[in-house]
Amino acid sequence: MIDVNALSDKWVAEVEAASDLAALDSIRVTALGKKGEITGMMKQMGSLSPEERKETGQALNKLKNAISDAIDARKTDLEDAELDARLAQESVDISQTVRPRRKGTIHPISQTVDEMIAILGEMGFTLAEGPEVEDDYHNFTALNMPADHPARQMQDTFYMNGHSGDEGSLVLRTHTSPVQIRTMLSEKPPIRIICPGRTFRCDSDATHTPMFNQVEGLVIGKDIHMGHLKGCLLDFLRAFFNEPNIKIQLRPSYFPFTEPSAEVDIGCSRQGGELKIGEGNDWLEILGCGMVNPRVLEACNIDPNEYQGFAFGMGIERLAMLKYGIPDLRTFFDGDVRWLDHYGFDALDQPSMVGGLSR
Ligand code: DAH
Repeated sequence: MIDVNALSDKWVAEVEAASDLAALDSIRVTALGKKGEITGMMKQMGSLSPEERKETGQALNKLKNAISDAIDARKTDLEDAELDARLAQESVDISQTVRPRRKGTIHPISQTVDEMIAILGEMGFTLAEGPEVEDDYHNFTALNMPADHPARQMQDTFYMNGHSGDEGSLVLRTHTSPVQIRTMLSEKPPIRIICPGRTFRCDSDATHTPMFNQVEGLVIGKDIHMGHLKGCLLDFLRAFFNEPNIKIQLRPSYFPFTEPSAEVDIGCSRQGGELKIGEGNDWLEILGCGMVNPRVLEACNIDPNEYQGFAFGMGIERLAMLKYGIPDLRTFFDGDVRWLDHYGFDALDQPSMVGGLSR
């Protein structure tokens, strides 16, 4: 007589010990497959007496069911464990901060422009743009520099092929000031714009590159005066250099497109050969500005008896060098990845007045 209980215990123990689905399946084949042990026992029942056959048949069916049930239960357990392991491996921890691979970085020029936009945008300025290939009229004449004006020689102009400086010539813009003209011609006052962009001069040495960046500011309104200009620049420079006590001074100067014109110095110290912004009793020239010349307003069909305004212009590389301690102007344009690794900024840290300008 077959000992069903002993056989059942043996197979169930084997099934429960199966460590994965493949092992479980091979147990199933060995026990219940076509050539399996239990199947073989069933085949031998033909030689038994009808009495014995009934008894053995019932016992073997019970055994078969017990093994099948154990296999099903083990299968469910193994599948669950497999799924758990996969989920644990595939999970994304959303509480982890992003660690960008410091491969690509934001160029200090782009960073500085974004910082300026963050500060001046907060102060109500909007962004304006103009073409880099400009005509003589917008770059010079409308800015109160008619042909043969000596101030034209202050700027070593790149003329486009076949153009020689006559009215209507095309030039690479020598400053961002022509965007003032374009804005005043296309918009009605009040106006409050900044225009960052590339500018070009035929000049190349340790402190000049043929292409460089400027940002221009323009405010036109009915009661604008030099106090507004000074206050605006002071707020801007304090925010930009993150030095709440920075001092500035306006020195009389000359630009054809402003009257009066001034150059702005910021307070600094140069003790021991080291330049520190916002400390000490020294001064450092940083930008040009003034009240928009009435002749420029007239050229843009704005009545100077009704409207006044101020303008300022500054070099972006210079400000970036001062703020971030970059010693050599020419390195801005070398495209050296090691330099960018060192001086570049994290692409995920967008400058803002709330979140901070730079980290
Ligand atoms: N356009 C001048 C330059 O390139 C900079 C400048 C000075 C712009 C005074 C201004 C200004 O708007 O008022 O040197």
